[in-house]
Amino acid sequence: MGVFYNHFHSQLFVQPAYPTRSFAGETVIITGSNVGLGKEAARHIARLGASKLILAVRNVSAGEEAKKDIENTTQCGRSVIEVWQLDLASYESVKAFASRASSLQRIDVLLENAGIATAQWSMAEGHERTLTVNVISTFLLALLLLPKLKSTAKQFNTEPRLTVVSSEVHGWIKFPEWNDPNVFETLDNKEKAKASFGSRYPLSKLLEVLVVREIAPKLDGSGVILNYLNPGLCRTELGREGNFALKILYAIRFARTTEVGGRTLVASAAAGRESHGKWMTDGKVNDNMLAPFPRSNDGKKASEKIWSELAAIVENIQPGVTSNL
Ligand SMILES: NC(=O)c1ccc[n+]([C@@H]2O[C@H](COP(=O)([O-])OP(=O)(O)OC[C@H]3O[C@@H](n4cnc5c(N)ncnc54)[C@H](OP(=O)(O)O)[C@@H]3O)[C@@H](O)[C@H]2O)c1
Repeated sequence: MGVFYNHFHSQLFVQPAYPTRSFAGETVIITGSNVGLGKEAARHIARLGASKLILAVRNVSAGEEAKKDIENTTQCGRSVIEVWQLDLASYESVKAFASRASSLQRIDVLLENAGIATAQWSMAEGHERTLTVNVISTFLLALLLLPKLKSTAKQFNTEPRLTVVSSEVHGWIKFPEWNDPNVFETLDNKEKAKASFGSRYPLSKLLEVLVVREIAPKLDGSGVILNYLNPGLCRTELGREGNFALKILYAIRFARTTEVGGRTLVASAAAGRESHGKWMTDGKVNDNMLAPFPRSNDGKKASEKIWSELAAIVENIQPGVTSNL
């Protein structure tokens, strides 16, 4: 079945299950949790008894507002939620956050949710900002925190989850640039990228998919579960930087509420070994719902290529970080 059929079917007929699995005793980090899906996932996880819940946010005062709101709408104790600064547009901020988080006793869930869908071209850390925030820093943070996720697995005999919030829109675009000698260089070139910049957000979600598919097997046997997911179309703040396509989709009015969309994040954050390396949609493992390209032979080659370029980029930021895999 086509990707658009799957999209409309899920939006119109599927309601992801209300999360019920306990997070008691667990330490959970959620990036981009001051608003949108991250905040609603945080609310569910607070309700489900997490011992420590870290809202990793770019704007600390917005994070404090979210913390108050979640505390006032759940039974979670006043000492459960902490607000920590994290700006994915700055590698120094990512490194500082990771260094602070590495001193935690345990990390049971790293829910990589923060992301942007901007219509405006700008650079951050030498790369186009969507690539820096959605792709490079997202995986840099994952790699920096892998040692803590692995040690949590061993020390507490548990299976920590590293969850990447991607999107079904990864299948809505073409990606001819994957054949270019240096893909990131092409995508960072404003002149070359101008004509296709409208699809930069879905492209960033495709890059996430390709990278997860390449690195998940490297984590086999590590005790860490790496999964990735599609929340479906949800009414959030994602269109705020002028993403016209998203505004039209929201206007059609079949977008999920943030609460319902947040359930899909919680499903992946709570998922077991069966989800390792797998795509989750509507809160369930379902690799058949991945777009054809990542599953094709060319998609496999693209995964290898994107990962090798990304590995070089993150090694440049933090030498040795890829050996955490
Ligand atoms: N909404 C949908 O229909 C939909 C569908 C599929 C996938 N998704 C994915 O779901 C995730 C959450 O998006 P959302 O829809 O909830 O959007 P949202 O309401 O705009 O929330 C995005 C979050 O990411 C944070 N963020 C943005 N740039 C950041 C940076 N440089 N450093 C740290 N945090 C940053 C935002 O913080 P600020 O508030 O400070 O900007 C905000 O907390 C994204 O990965 C998105 O791609 C969404």
